[in-house]
Amino acid sequence: MRTLAIVLALGFTGSVAMLAWAAQDDKQPESVWMKKKLEYSKDILEGITTEDFETVERAAAAMRRMSALEGFVRRKDTKAYRAQLAIFEFSNDELLRHAANKDVDGATLAFTQLTLSCVNCHKQLRLPQE
Ligand code: HEC
Repeated sequence: MRTLAIVLALGFTGSVAMLAWAAQDDKQPESVWMKKKLEYSKDILEGITTEDFETVERAAAAMRRMSALEGFVRRKDTKAYRAQLAIFEFSNDELLRHAANKDVDGATLAFTQLTLSCVNCHKQLRLPQE
């Protein structure tokens, strides 16, 4: 239970960090997709905390579909970007699998990994690109 609390706190901190980053960085173009990602993340957190696995599955599935489309359209091609995208998609799939099994601990872990990929992808985007 304590681990779960820590993991949830981490996920929440990640969401807040992302919100802060989105608010402060006005150099980036408005991204409808990314706003959606934030929305889905909040839905997933809500679903996990209330053990409403249908909500988790719905939001994770929508996020997965969007990511596939986005990867195709955007085609960012640095190694670091692709690595974070791969982690993002893997965690998203894990989240779907755990939600289907109604495994709240597994879903929490996958959501934490997903959140880390959000933060790390944004982090590497702000570094000077090779
Ligand atoms: C593989 C890279 C990558 C991952 C993973 C990623 N993002 Fe992003 N994100 C971007 C890029 C690139 C931008 C810059 C805006 C753009 O080009 O769309 C961005 C911008 C944003 C913004 C600012 C949007 C705006 O309107 O300016 C938000 C909010 C955001 N992302 C949320 C998320 C959330 C939440 C997740 C995880 C669930 C996530 N992102 C995962 C690449 C990523």
